[in-house]
Amino acid sequence: MANVTEFLTLSNGVKIPSIGFGTWQTPEGDVATEAVKAAIEAGYRHIDTAQAYGNERGVGEGIRRSGISRDELFVTTKLTNDNHTYEITKSSFEQSLKDLGLDYVDLFLVHWPRPMKFRDCWEKANAETWKAMEELYEEGKIRAIGVSNFMPKHLSALLETAKIAPMVNQIRLCPGCTQDEIVNYSRDMGMILEAYSPLGTGKIFDSEEVKSLAAKYGKSIAQISIRWSLQMGFLPLPKSVNADRIRANLDVFDFELSDEDMSFLTGLTGVAGGAPDPDNMPF
Ligand code: A2P
Repeated sequence: MANVTEFLTLSNGVKIPSIGFGTWQTPEGDVATEAVKAAIEAGYRHIDTAQAYGNERGVGEGIRRSGISRDELFVTTKLTNDNHTYEITKSSFEQSLKDLGLDYVDLFLVHWPRPMKFRDCWEKANAETWKAMEELYEEGKIRAIGVSNFMPKHLSALLETAKIAPMVNQIRLCPGCTQDEIVNYSRDMGMILEAYSPLGTGKIFDSEEVKSLAAKYGKSIAQISIRWSLQMGFLPLPKSVNADRIRANLDVFDFELSDEDMSFLTGLTGVAGGAPDPDNMPF
């Protein structure tokens, strides 16, 4: 089992730290900066942000203030929904680099497959977007490219014109939300599955079932959920803005969930919310 200092390998050979620090819903400014700095001090070497989170400046500042050298860190950002198509993908990527204060990112993802702005022409918009991403990748400005919230039909449409297959699909995965079809499809394509909202955006803490299991292992609900994700072979991206919780969420490498308890957690359908329908989001 991987630990915080270990890596998974993407299909292009790039190493990616086996757990990442999520920043969705982390406010821009000092909060983002302090959270990212605390995460890197706690041992995270993988930070996940997005244009849509509105916190790339604060995240970049946290990275700089951590004092850890750039080549020891793995930084992901994502293309926001209004920025699909060739030219805007390129210009908004340059803006992300400026906001983050970096000269390359490790992973760039298309955040949603079918944004409202391109709802009726999403295949064409995604094909153009992907061409721009492939070029940025080939220029060395991005070390790996991938997608987020893509379902099988979105991936198969993308592959009709793609020269390079996506290396990552980042989707919502947590106990009771396993999205089996897209997980299997993505894996068959050689992609790593990243798990956003591995704590169900906090909903998991209301589950009495997970609470009992946590007591049995002498661990917290968060640690049980993150551990489940790792044992499922996912790459979890827990979010927190609290230094103690940030540290505690990494303390998941000294125990193992039994097969029976893994199945129990997997079967808690809907306990921490379900997956969004990416064809019908109001953005
Ligand atoms: P906070 O940022 O105040 O710590 P997810 O990663 O699934 O999106 O979940 C994030 C939510 O879970 C946030 O509300 C976060 O709050 C909370 N959270 C993260 N880690 C813990 C923890 N160890 N204990 C309790 N709540 C946590």
